[in-house]
Amino acid sequence: MSEIIKPSETPLVDVRHLKEYFDINTGFFKTRPLKAVDDVSFTIAKGETLGLVGESGCGKTTVGRTVLQLYKPTAGEIYFNGNKIEGKKALKEFRTKATMVFQDPYSSLNPRMTVSDIIAEPLDVHKLYSSKEERRDRVLELMGHVGLNSEHASRYAHEFSGGQRQRIGIARALAVNPEFIVCDEPVSALDVSIQARRSSICLRTFSKSSVSPIYS
Ligand SMILES: Nc1ncnc2c1ncn2[C@@H]1O[C@H](COP(=O)(O)OP(=O)(O)O)[C@@H](O)[C@H]1O
Ligand SMILES: [Mg+2]
Repeated sequence: MSEIIKPSETPLVDVRHLKEYFDINTGFFKTRPLKAVDDVSFTIAKGETLGLVGESGCGKTTVGRTVLQLYKPTAGEIYFNGNKIEGKKALKEFRTKATMVFQDPYSSLNPRMTVSDIIAEPLDVHKLYSSKEERRDRVLELMGHVGLNSEHASRYAHEFSGGQRQRIGIARALAVNPEFIVCDEPVSALDVSIQARRSSICLRTFSKSSVSPIYS
């Protein structure tokens, strides 16, 4: 990174004492908490990437999802750019700046949607264009960022390999121009032998200019 980050600078992501407990059914109306994440704290500066590596089931995916508040935290605080993420308004704004690349490119992409519509979905949701042409141009730009050919835009997700689907998912995640993305095991669909050895999650922040290209 070309940027020099002063130690005093506010971290982009600041996670304090995060806990995520799931209720597990243990019998007739009985549950017990499963402590998937128990008191995790970390900070990530702008332009920095944090990797979480560990055995399967140790809580990496849950950390990623809870930081993005796809799961409501059982306890703990999440600050983004110094602002605490709480309440609907803050959460909605946070969602335009922080996003997730899902682990499984087979189940996370709708096979009946074209690549173009999949990538444009966040643009549609957050109304981030003013004309059809702008939408199309942005989709083609995003496809270029992840090394997908523009001719693929009108094809369907099921026509692609796992690695290509992962790129489609990454292009979709980048559509909102995020400052922070959580990539859950981004290499898993690329090579099965890598998948067996390495289980990781990567929490990546961007300074605006460093988003492209993800793949070359
Ligand atoms: N939605 C859920 N409901 C109940 N238990 C869950 C849920 N998601 C994950 N878990 C449990 O939480 C633990 C951590 O899972 P996970 O975060 O997926 O680990 P990792 O990504 O490191 O493999 C596991 O024991 C898993 O079974
Ligand atoms: Mg996982």
